[in-house]
Amino acid sequence: MPLKKSNSAAKKPSDAPAKKAPQPITPVRGMRDILPADFPYWRKMFETAQGLCDAYGFDRIETPVLEDTPLFVRGVGKQTDVVEKEMYSFETPGGDKVSLRPENTAGVCRAYIHHGMLNLPQPVKLWYWGQMFRHDRPQSGRYRQFWQYGCEIIGEEDAVVDAQLALIAWRYLKDLGIESTVRINSIGTPECRLNYRNALVAYFRPKRSRLSEEDKKRLLKNPLRLLDSKDPVVAEMKVEAPQIVDWLDESSKNHFMRVLEYLDEVGVPYQLDPFLVRGLDYYTQTVFELYEATEEEGSQNALGGGGRYDGLMELLGGRPTPAAGFAIGVDRVISRLKASSQNIEPKKVDVFVAQLGEGGRKKALAIFEELREAGMSASENFAKNSIKAQMDIANRLGVKWTLIVGQKEVLDGTVIVRDMDAGTQEIVDARKIVQVLQKKMIQKEQEA
Ligand code: HAM
Repeated sequence: MPLKKSNSAAKKPSDAPAKKAPQPITPVRGMRDILPADFPYWRKMFETAQGLCDAYGFDRIETPVLEDTPLFVRGVGKQTDVVEKEMYSFETPGGDKVSLRPENTAGVCRAYIHHGMLNLPQPVKLWYWGQMFRHDRPQSGRYRQFWQYGCEIIGEEDAVVDAQLALIAWRYLKDLGIESTVRINSIGTPECRLNYRNALVAYFRPKRSRLSEEDKKRLLKNPLRLLDSKDPVVAEMKVEAPQIVDWLDESSKNHFMRVLEYLDEVGVPYQLDPFLVRGLDYYTQTVFELYEATEEEGSQNALGGGGRYDGLMELLGGRPTPAAGFAIGVDRVISRLKASSQNIEPKKVDVFVAQLGEGGRKKALAIFEELREAGMSASENFAKNSIKAQMDIANRLGVKWTLIVGQKEVLDGTVIVRDMDAGTQEIVDARKIVQVLQKKMIQKEQEA
């Protein structure tokens, strides 16, 4: 294409069209930044999860956020909302069909098969912490990128595992200061579900005309999904609907009774929820969700959910392997912690290192390294020149001591140690600063 001849040289600068200032770029809808002020909560949640998983003998696993799309289509189920409507799926330049993971149970099972974990002593207990992606309608407690903390116990079918998982999820929230209730049900084996499905269709079919288009589709393709419908009309119809518990075979009933007995034994508060089926297709037998104890019935904002998925491994091409697990919605729990005005203090800094003049700055830089190597929590702002500005920062951080290194101190080989509570100062040999501070720390602890 021939380049247009510019006539800008003929134009006076005042005639030039005004350049549009670039618009700031905002986060993608449903995604958000997690800012430093939130991190004390994130840290507390992560450290509590880690402590609990160590105590219960879980090993950490991380799987990629991007997986082959068929993993979720097969694992989570083609007709679930998560797969049908909410997946971020795309084709790579190499032509692979991939998706950002909407959940992590399928990924963990894929990893279990891929790495031959069947050959390890069973059960294999794994935990994870990471981002999930669902293109859902953004609203309170529902994000398009969110974090889950999850635990999976693979290779054991005993009911005690289901109960222990519900206990761990409940205990986790309790350790964070949140009282919760486990809503629990059993959806039996695929065979029980087939009979139940027929009963459900027989019940809803005469009422079909009152269902939304979406729910009519559910009735046709996956009637159990009707039980998760958010439509109030369905909620009203559900009251009289057949309950799956009446369609469970003896073995499923016994399994479920044992889960409940174990929960009774350890005092985990639970409510039977006959219509809880969960939104993912891989579940068999026990399913459960955790809600804040004060949450109204019918609320959709579960803090976590899980259950047994004995058929998933086979669906993904592995050997039949019973398994169960749960995942907690980290973002939702953090909202609760903040709303309950639980004051999670940021990590305390003990010492601030202030400096004056170029010589002071160099010495302060080296002292800071010494403190860090000795494991002390210290802070600084070496770019500031004014002592007053540095003292303001030290006050804001609430440190116990501020070290001051100026030209005179550099020449004398000393450091001024200011006790911030008492407002007193003393001059200390710079070579002994770590020992002096350690002694002071012990003294403060004894006084407290
Ligand atoms: P899920 O019920 O789909 O289960 O998700 C678990 C938790 O993740 C929910 O209870 C909720 O707290 C949180 N969550 C889900 N979607 C969102 C969202 N859009 N925004 C914020 N938080 C959300 C699973 O994902 C299963 N993989 C759990 C499991 C593990 N089952 C067996 N093992």
